[in-house]
Amino acid sequence: MRNIKLFESETHKFILLNESEPGEEDGVRSNQYLVVHEGSGVLLDPGGFGVMPRVLAEMLRYLNPDQIRGIMLSHQDPDIVGGLSTWLELIKAPVYVSRIWMRFLPHYGLKDMSRFVGVPDQGMDCEVAPGFTLKIVPAHFLHSEGQINVYDSISKILFSGDIGAAMLPMDKNDAYVDDFKSHLPFIDGFHRRYMCSNKAIRCWLETISGLEIDMIAPQHGPVYRGAAVREFLDWLRDLQCGVDLMRSGGRFSA
Ligand SMILES: [Fe+2]
Ligand SMILES: [Fe+2]
Repeated sequence: MRNIKLFESETHKFILLNESEPGEEDGVRSNQYLVVHEGSGVLLDPGGFGVMPRVLAEMLRYLNPDQIRGIMLSHQDPDIVGGLSTWLELIKAPVYVSRIWMRFLPHYGLKDMSRFVGVPDQGMDCEVAPGFTLKIVPAHFLHSEGQINVYDSISKILFSGDIGAAMLPMDKNDAYVDDFKSHLPFIDGFHRRYMCSNKAIRCWLETISGLEIDMIAPQHGPVYRGAAVREFLDWLRDLQCGVDLMRSGGRFSA
C-alpha cells in the first residue's frame, strides 16, 4: 500500500505515504503519514531506518524537505525513531515527542537535541504554519508511557500511533477497515498484551470524546473509516489488557 490519499481538498491532504513491506524492515510493517496544508507539511512517525528511502521518495511527490514544518513521533519505539537521524540531515524542522522521551532519544545517535520539542503530558495545539494547526492529544500508556496522537481538524483524521494497530499476515494488505468483525482477530492479541490497562483506555476515550473523527489512522495496519471507527472504539472501551490481565510468574490470563 503506497501513497493513499486518505483526505484531499484543494488546500489540504492527509496521505498514507508508505506501508513498509517484508524485507524493507525486518520487523513489523508500519505506516508513515504526511499531512500537507498549502505547501507546508508534517510527517507523522516517519519510521525505522530501513523504510526511510521509500518514504522519502513518496514524500517528494508532494513536498521538498524544506517545506516540512514538523515531525511528530507518537512514541519512542525503534520502528518510529530508527530513521530519524537521517531525516534530520534533510529536514530542518522541529521534532515533537512526549517530554518524557527526550532524554532517551540521544541513544538513537541523535546528537543535536535542540530541535526537539518536549510535548507536555496534557498535549498541545501546534500551529506548524499560519492557518495550519494540528492538535497533539495525550494517549499515555497506550502502549507507551508517553504516547501522543495527532488530530487534524480539517480532515477529521486521528493519527493514533499504536492504538488500533493490526498485525496482519503478509498476504493481507487492505488500506481500510470496513468490516470490523473480520478485522478483530488481527488486533485482539496485540491490544491485550501491549496496551497497559483499561483505565488508560478509558482516560483516552474521554480525552478524544469531543473530537469529530472520520478516520483513525494507526501506525500499523489498515485505517479505520465509516462504522469501523465507532465499532473499534466500542470494542476498546471494555477491553481488559496489560496489567488488568497480569498474573505472577509472567503469566497473563486470557
Ligand atoms: Fe510501539
Ligand atoms: Fe508501533
